Amino acid sequence: MMLSLLKSLLFSTIILLLTSISTFAGEIELKITKKYLNFPISHKEDRHKMTFQAAGHEDLTVVIRLSSNAPDYWVFKDVSNLKGQTLKISYDGDEAGLSKIYQADKIEGNASLYTEKNRPQFHFTTQRGWINDPNGLLYHDGEYHLFYQHNPFEREWENMHWGHAVSTDLIHWNELPLALFPDKHGTMFSGSAVIDYKNSAGFNKGNTPALIAAYTADSKEKQVQCIAYSLDNGRTFTKYEGNPIIDSKKVWNSKDTRDPKVFWYEPGDHWVMVLNERDGHSIYNSEDLKNWEYQSHTTGFWECPELFELPVDGDPSNTLWVMYGASGTYMLGDFDGKVFTPIAGKYLYTSGPIYAAQTFTNMQNGRRVQMGWGRITHPEMPFKGMMMLPTELSLRNTKDGPRLFNLPVKETEQLFSPIKQWETLTAEKANEALKQFSKHEELRIKTTIKLSHATGAGLKLNGQGMLDYDLNFNKLNGVFYSPNDPTSMEISADIYIDRTSIEVFIDGGALTLVMPKTPETNNKEGFYFWGNNIEIKNLEVYNANSIWK
Ligand code: FRU
Repeated sequence: MMLSLLKSLLFSTIILLLTSISTFAGEIELKITKKYLNFPISHKEDRHKMTFQAAGHEDLTVVIRLSSNAPDYWVFKDVSNLKGQTLKISYDGDEAGLSKIYQADKIEGNASLYTEKNRPQFHFTTQRGWINDPNGLLYHDGEYHLFYQHNPFEREWENMHWGHAVSTDLIHWNELPLALFPDKHGTMFSGSAVIDYKNSAGFNKGNTPALIAAYTADSKEKQVQCIAYSLDNGRTFTKYEGNPIIDSKKVWNSKDTRDPKVFWYEPGDHWVMVLNERDGHSIYNSEDLKNWEYQSHTTGFWECPELFELPVDGDPSNTLWVMYGASGTYMLGDFDGKVFTPIAGKYLYTSGPIYAAQTFTNMQNGRRVQMGWGRITHPEMPFKGMMMLPTELSLRNTKDGPRLFNLPVKETEQLFSPIKQWETLTAEKANEALKQFSKHEELRIKTTIKLSHATGAGLKLNGQGMLDYDLNFNKLNGVFYSPNDPTSMEISADIYIDRTSIEVFIDGGALTLVMPKTPETNNKEGFYFWGNNIEIKNLEVYNANSIWK
């Protein structure tokens, strides 16, 4: 009895010792000779801390599910700025995974990059990892900047960095190295970017105006606002040593103070920051982007503030200000640089898994172009989330007063070439006509449906309701919709189908529907118009080109 107890004690001690050795924090030192480090990731592993240390660089600590066995996929870290230096990586999980990290000039999986089965073909996605909100959207010197919330180490939310991509046409994006890394103030949450033409912050160099990012640093304890500047068009950033520039947790008795959207307010000759604090959007003013003074607060919004002016029906003498939050519900009102006064709202102009949309700063010709995060999964891919199509916002008078309209930017047209067009079809004929396209993974379809004997009509793809109109209850795909002409018996839709998402622009942009494309299961019926005796007044089919070629 005693002996067997002793034996089992000994056995458990050995097991304990063995496991503690194999899970003992490990460390490797690498002389960096290549562009990338590749890391194997497994979602069967828990997250453990990993720290990167190199002389002359701030330490970086993240959490990662390093695989010690067969990885689900690989992620990478661009280490080209460390070439010739020694990088120390310590990891407090199973050190077996450490030896699998390897250097290369290509990322693991490079050969199939952008042609993977479920990679969106005309929307921005990151090469590896997780993305959420677009950040720092900005046009400068012929380049559009798309920064974004990014976890480079896993396809789920964590370790917030700012990723970075650039484009010369808003359509074809080039993913660049990471822009902002977690630091002593916290991880890098959402924010915006401006060009400091007047050198108000004093960061400019010669003729080079600084690109200044305003962002939230998130720590366990609080969220504070910070700035960082770049003198090389967002390729590298220097964080302001006086950070944080706003620390308002105590004022609001809340941790939720985040997502600064900054813009230059010409009439008052000062900077404006709209900041989401607890239960709404606050306005702050500044002369130098460093010192900010609180002005006012509008309740009723959550996260990712936006505030901008738009002419109604293009008339510059008749403008309104639009304020929205992450969900995209908006108020219309006046703004004097300090106070936003709501006049009408809240309304919605988009619905579905689009979130945290932001508009580009410094657009030419007064265009107000936005991009939103698509909360969309791409089955089995080493990345998650996407950016929905860039769209142009406008205010138009409707029977209910001015409302936001939203349509893909004109630059999108280059991606789609017309294949076929029909007029005046029955649903049966239209379904027959669309049969040949049912295997296309990407497509654009424009259509106008006319109802007469039915209170409902729509268009499905493999059983999924891309357009689901209930004229009787004024509902479109579940949300309230009342056409501008209340007696209208027609509905028109411009439908963009990518591999994992669908965007539908209704009646010239009056409502936008965003949805994930449900993977075809057993339903292979393809495109299917439904509705008693409906007429398909118009049907156009366009080919979609990839933005990655
Ligand atoms: C919105 C949001 C922001 C925050 C960021 C963190 O999706 O929650 O409020 O800054 O995401 O990733």
